[in-house]
Amino acid sequence: MRLILFGPPGAGKGTQAARLVESFQIPQISTGDILRESKAAKTPMGMEAARYMDAGKLVPDDVVVGIVEERIKKPDAEKGYILDGFPRTVPQAEALEAMLEKNGTPIDKVPSLEVPEDILVGRLSGRRSCPSCKAAFHVEFAAPTQEGICDKCSSSLVHRDDDLPDAVRERLRTFEDQTAPVKEFYEARGKLVRVDGVGDVNDVFERLSKAVKS
Ligand code: AP5
Repeated sequence: MRLILFGPPGAGKGTQAARLVESFQIPQISTGDILRESKAAKTPMGMEAARYMDAGKLVPDDVVVGIVEERIKKPDAEKGYILDGFPRTVPQAEALEAMLEKNGTPIDKVPSLEVPEDILVGRLSGRRSCPSCKAAFHVEFAAPTQEGICDKCSSSLVHRDDDLPDAVRERLRTFEDQTAPVKEFYEARGKLVRVDGVGDVNDVFERLSKAVKS
Protein backbone atom coordinates (compact mmCIF):
# COMPACT_ATOMS: atom_id res chain seq x y z
CA MET A 1 0.00 0.00 0.00
CA ARG A 2 1.49 3.32 -1.11
CA LEU A 3 -0.24 6.32 0.43
CA ILE A 4 0.14 10.07 0.42
CA LEU A 5 -1.27 11.55 3.61
CA PHE A 6 -2.32 15.00 2.49
CA GLY A 7 -3.38 18.00 4.56
CA PRO A 8 -2.42 21.50 5.67
CA PRO A 9 0.08 22.20 8.46
CA GLY A 10 -1.39 20.98 11.74
CA ALA A 11 -4.04 18.75 10.13
CA GLY A 12 -2.72 15.78 12.11
CA LYS A 13 -0.66 14.06 9.40
CA GLY A 14 2.16 13.11 11.78
CA THR A 15 -0.27 12.01 14.52
CA GLN A 16 -2.30 9.81 12.16
CA ALA A 17 0.70 8.52 10.18
CA ALA A 18 2.13 7.02 13.38
CA ARG A 19 -1.10 5.01 13.76
CA LEU A 20 -1.15 3.95 10.11
CA VAL A 21 2.43 2.66 10.50
CA GLU A 22 1.26 0.30 13.26
CA SER A 23 -1.88 -0.72 11.46
CA PHE A 24 -0.38 -1.36 8.00
CA GLN A 25 3.23 -2.17 9.01
CA ILE A 26 4.69 0.17 6.41
CA PRO A 27 7.06 3.09 7.12
CA GLN A 28 6.12 6.77 7.38
CA ILE A 29 8.28 8.97 5.17
CA SER A 30 8.07 12.55 6.42
CA THR A 31 10.10 15.07 4.43
CA GLY A 32 9.68 17.51 7.34
CA ASP A 33 11.25 15.00 9.80
CA ILE A 34 14.10 14.21 7.39
CA LEU A 35 14.80 17.93 6.87
CA ARG A 36 14.69 18.63 10.62
CA GLU A 37 17.16 15.76 11.23
CA SER A 38 19.52 17.29 8.63
CA LYS A 39 19.09 20.69 10.29
CA ALA A 40 19.90 19.24 13.74
CA ALA A 41 22.95 17.45 12.32
CA LYS A 42 24.03 20.79 10.76
CA THR A 43 24.69 19.21 7.36
CA PRO A 44 25.10 21.74 4.49
CA MET A 45 21.69 20.66 3.11
CA GLY A 46 20.10 20.94 6.55
CA MET A 47 21.50 24.42 7.17
CA GLU A 48 20.27 25.58 3.76
CA ALA A 49 16.83 23.99 4.29
CA ALA A 50 16.49 25.61 7.74
CA ARG A 51 16.46 29.08 6.16
CA TYR A 52 13.26 28.18 4.30
CA MET A 53 11.64 26.09 7.04
CA ASP A 54 12.05 28.59 9.88
CA ALA A 55 10.44 31.28 7.70
CA GLY A 56 7.50 29.00 6.87
CA LYS A 57 8.50 28.68 3.21
CA LEU A 58 8.98 25.56 1.10
CA VAL A 59 12.40 24.00 0.58
CA PRO A 60 13.28 23.91 -3.16
CA ASP A 61 11.64 21.07 -5.14
CA ASP A 62 14.91 19.46 -6.32
CA VAL A 63 16.10 19.01 -2.72
CA VAL A 64 12.96 17.26 -1.47
CA VAL A 65 12.46 15.19 -4.64
CA GLY A 66 16.04 13.91 -4.22
CA ILE A 67 15.36 13.03 -0.56
CA VAL A 68 12.22 11.04 -1.43
CA GLU A 69 13.81 9.28 -4.41
CA GLU A 70 16.60 7.97 -2.16
CA ARG A 71 14.27 7.07 0.73
CA ILE A 72 11.72 5.01 -1.20
CA LYS A 73 14.51 2.80 -2.58
CA LYS A 74 15.29 1.50 0.92
CA PRO A 75 14.28 -2.13 1.63
CA ASP A 76 11.71 -1.23 4.30
CA ALA A 77 9.70 0.70 1.68
CA GLU A 78 9.43 -2.25 -0.72
CA LYS A 79 5.93 -3.24 0.49
CA GLY A 80 4.70 0.34 0.63
CA TYR A 81 4.94 3.56 2.61
CA ILE A 82 3.07 6.60 3.86
CA LEU A 83 4.32 9.88 2.42
CA ASP A 84 3.74 12.69 4.93
CA GLY A 85 4.35 16.27 3.75
CA PHE A 86 5.28 15.28 0.20
CA PRO A 87 4.41 16.17 -2.55
CA ARG A 88 3.76 19.80 -1.65
CA THR A 89 3.84 21.39 -5.10
CA VAL A 90 2.54 20.24 -8.49
CA PRO A 91 6.13 19.86 -9.85
CA GLN A 92 6.88 17.56 -6.86
CA ALA A 93 3.73 15.52 -7.65
CA GLU A 94 4.77 15.25 -11.30
CA ALA A 95 8.29 14.20 -10.35
CA LEU A 96 6.90 11.52 -8.00
CA GLU A 97 4.50 10.24 -10.66
CA ALA A 98 7.33 9.93 -13.20
CA MET A 99 9.53 8.18 -10.62
CA LEU A 100 6.83 5.64 -9.70
CA GLU A 101 5.65 5.06 -13.26
CA LYS A 102 9.18 4.05 -14.17
CA ASN A 103 9.08 1.39 -11.42
CA GLY A 104 5.45 0.34 -12.04
CA THR A 105 4.58 1.18 -8.41
CA PRO A 106 1.88 3.88 -8.49
CA ILE A 107 0.35 5.61 -5.47
CA ASP A 108 -2.80 3.76 -4.33
CA LYS A 109 -4.64 6.49 -2.41
CA VAL A 110 -4.34 10.06 -1.22
CA PRO A 111 -6.37 10.56 1.97
CA SER A 112 -6.78 14.28 2.62
CA LEU A 113 -7.31 15.40 6.24
CA GLU A 114 -9.78 18.30 6.15
CA VAL A 115 -9.50 20.77 9.05
CA PRO A 116 -10.63 24.45 9.13
CA GLU A 117 -7.95 27.13 9.48
CA ASP A 118 -8.90 28.41 12.96
CA ILE A 119 -8.47 24.88 14.37
CA LEU A 120 -5.11 24.50 12.58
CA VAL A 121 -3.76 27.66 14.22
CA GLY A 122 -4.77 26.40 17.70
CA ARG A 123 -3.17 23.00 17.09
CA LEU A 124 0.13 24.41 15.80
CA SER A 125 0.59 27.10 18.43
CA GLY A 126 0.09 24.57 21.26
CA ARG A 127 2.11 21.75 19.75
CA ARG A 128 5.18 20.39 21.52
CA SER A 129 7.33 17.96 19.51
CA CYS A 130 9.79 15.26 20.45
CA PRO A 131 13.00 15.72 18.44
CA SER A 132 14.03 12.08 19.14
CA CYS A 133 11.03 9.85 18.45
CA LYS A 134 9.01 12.54 16.56
CA ALA A 135 5.91 12.14 18.76
CA ALA A 136 3.64 15.21 18.78
CA PHE A 137 1.93 16.51 21.92
CA HIS A 138 -0.33 19.46 22.56
CA VAL A 139 -0.43 21.61 25.70
CA GLU A 140 -4.22 21.37 25.75
CA PHE A 141 -5.44 18.48 23.55
CA ALA A 142 -2.70 15.89 24.09
CA ALA A 143 -0.61 16.97 27.07
CA PRO A 144 2.36 14.78 28.09
CA THR A 145 2.13 13.17 31.53
CA GLN A 146 5.11 15.23 32.74
CA GLU A 147 5.28 18.76 31.37
CA GLY A 148 7.99 19.18 28.70
CA ILE A 149 8.94 15.47 28.66
CA CYS A 150 8.09 12.93 25.94
CA ASP A 151 5.87 10.10 27.25
CA LYS A 152 7.35 7.67 24.74
CA CYS A 153 11.13 8.19 25.02
CA SER A 154 11.63 10.69 27.92
CA SER A 155 13.43 13.27 25.73
CA SER A 156 12.81 16.99 26.32
CA LEU A 157 10.02 18.33 24.12
CA VAL A 158 10.59 21.39 21.90
CA HIS A 159 8.44 24.18 20.49
CA ARG A 160 9.32 24.06 16.77
CA ASP A 161 10.75 27.31 15.31
CA ASP A 162 8.10 27.18 12.59
CA ASP A 163 5.26 26.87 15.15
CA LEU A 164 5.80 30.51 16.23
CA PRO A 165 2.92 32.80 15.14
CA ASP A 166 4.57 34.55 12.14
CA ALA A 167 5.85 31.29 10.69
CA VAL A 168 2.46 29.56 11.21
CA ARG A 169 0.71 32.34 9.26
CA GLU A 170 3.27 32.06 6.45
CA ARG A 171 2.97 28.24 6.33
CA LEU A 172 -0.80 28.43 5.99
CA ARG A 173 -0.44 31.02 3.20
CA THR A 174 2.17 28.86 1.45
CA PHE A 175 -0.18 25.87 1.71
CA GLU A 176 -3.02 27.74 0.00
CA ASP A 177 -0.75 29.15 -2.74
CA GLN A 178 1.50 26.21 -3.54
CA THR A 179 0.16 23.00 -1.98
CA ALA A 180 -3.64 23.19 -2.39
CA PRO A 181 -3.31 22.58 -6.20
CA VAL A 182 -1.74 19.18 -5.41
CA LYS A 183 -5.17 18.10 -4.17
CA GLU A 184 -6.68 18.81 -7.60
CA PHE A 185 -3.80 16.88 -9.20
CA TYR A 186 -4.80 13.70 -7.32
CA GLU A 187 -8.53 14.36 -7.54
CA ALA A 188 -8.19 14.42 -11.34
CA ARG A 189 -6.51 10.98 -11.11
CA GLY A 190 -9.32 9.57 -8.91
CA LYS A 191 -6.97 8.96 -5.95
CA LEU A 192 -8.12 11.61 -3.49
CA VAL A 193 -10.35 10.64 -0.53
CA ARG A 194 -11.49 13.39 1.83
CA VAL A 195 -11.44 12.60 5.56
CA ASP A 196 -12.92 14.83 8.27
CA GLY A 197 -9.88 15.62 10.45
CA VAL A 198 -11.78 17.36 13.26
CA GLY A 199 -12.58 15.60 16.53
CA ASP A 200 -11.01 13.00 18.77
CA VAL A 201 -7.75 11.52 17.41
CA ASN A 202 -9.20 7.96 17.62
CA ASP A 203 -12.34 8.97 15.72
CA VAL A 204 -10.25 10.61 13.00
CA PHE A 205 -8.17 7.44 12.75
CA GLU A 206 -11.27 5.31 12.37
CA ARG A 207 -12.50 7.51 9.49
CA LEU A 208 -9.03 7.52 7.94
CA SER A 209 -8.66 3.72 8.12
CA LYS A 210 -12.05 3.26 6.46
CA ALA A 211 -11.08 5.69 3.70
CA VAL A 212 -7.78 3.92 3.08
CA LYS A 213 -9.45 0.49 2.91
CA SER A 214 -12.39 1.69 0.76
P1 AP5 B 1 6.30 19.32 8.00
O1 AP5 B 1 7.04 18.80 9.14
O2 AP5 B 1 5.81 18.38 6.94
O3 AP5 B 1 5.12 20.22 8.57
P2 AP5 B 1 3.60 20.43 8.12
O4 AP5 B 1 3.12 19.80 6.87
O5 AP5 B 1 3.49 21.88 8.21
O6 AP5 B 1 2.84 19.59 9.11
P3 AP5 B 1 2.97 19.61 10.60
O7 AP5 B 1 4.07 18.68 11.07
O8 AP5 B 1 3.08 21.02 11.12
O9 AP5 B 1 1.53 19.12 11.04
P4 AP5 B 1 0.86 17.70 10.99
O10 AP5 B 1 -0.21 17.70 9.96
O11 AP5 B 1 1.87 16.58 10.95
O12 AP5 B 1 0.15 17.74 12.41
P5 AP5 B 1 0.49 16.98 13.77
O13 AP5 B 1 0.09 15.55 13.69
O14 AP5 B 1 1.87 17.29 14.28
O15 AP5 B 1 7.15 20.44 7.22
C1 AP5 B 1 7.85 21.46 7.91
C2 AP5 B 1 8.59 22.32 6.91
O16 AP5 B 1 9.57 21.53 6.19
C3 AP5 B 1 7.73 22.97 5.80
O17 AP5 B 1 7.12 24.17 6.22
C4 AP5 B 1 8.79 23.19 4.71
O18 AP5 B 1 9.61 24.31 4.98
C5 AP5 B 1 9.66 21.94 4.82
N1 AP5 B 1 9.17 20.85 3.95
C6 AP5 B 1 8.71 19.63 4.33
N2 AP5 B 1 8.31 18.91 3.28
C7 AP5 B 1 8.53 19.69 2.18
C8 AP5 B 1 8.29 19.49 0.80
N3 AP5 B 1 7.74 18.37 0.33
N4 AP5 B 1 8.62 20.52 -0.04
C9 AP5 B 1 9.16 21.66 0.42
N5 AP5 B 1 9.40 21.91 1.72
C10 AP5 B 1 9.09 20.92 2.60
O19 AP5 B 1 -0.58 17.71 14.73
C11 AP5 B 1 -0.46 19.07 15.04
C12 AP5 B 1 -0.87 19.31 16.51
O20 AP5 B 1 -2.26 19.03 16.64
C13 AP5 B 1 -0.16 18.41 17.54
O21 AP5 B 1 0.07 19.15 18.69
C14 AP5 B 1 -1.16 17.27 17.81
O22 AP5 B 1 -1.04 16.76 19.11
C15 AP5 B 1 -2.50 18.00 17.61
N6 AP5 B 1 -3.55 17.16 17.05
C16 AP5 B 1 -3.43 16.25 16.03
N7 AP5 B 1 -4.63 15.69 15.76
C17 AP5 B 1 -5.53 16.27 16.63
C18 AP5 B 1 -6.93 16.11 16.85
N8 AP5 B 1 -7.67 15.23 16.13
N9 AP5 B 1 -7.51 16.88 17.81
C19 AP5 B 1 -6.78 17.77 18.54
N10 AP5 B 1 -5.45 17.95 18.39
C20 AP5 B 1 -4.83 17.20 17.43
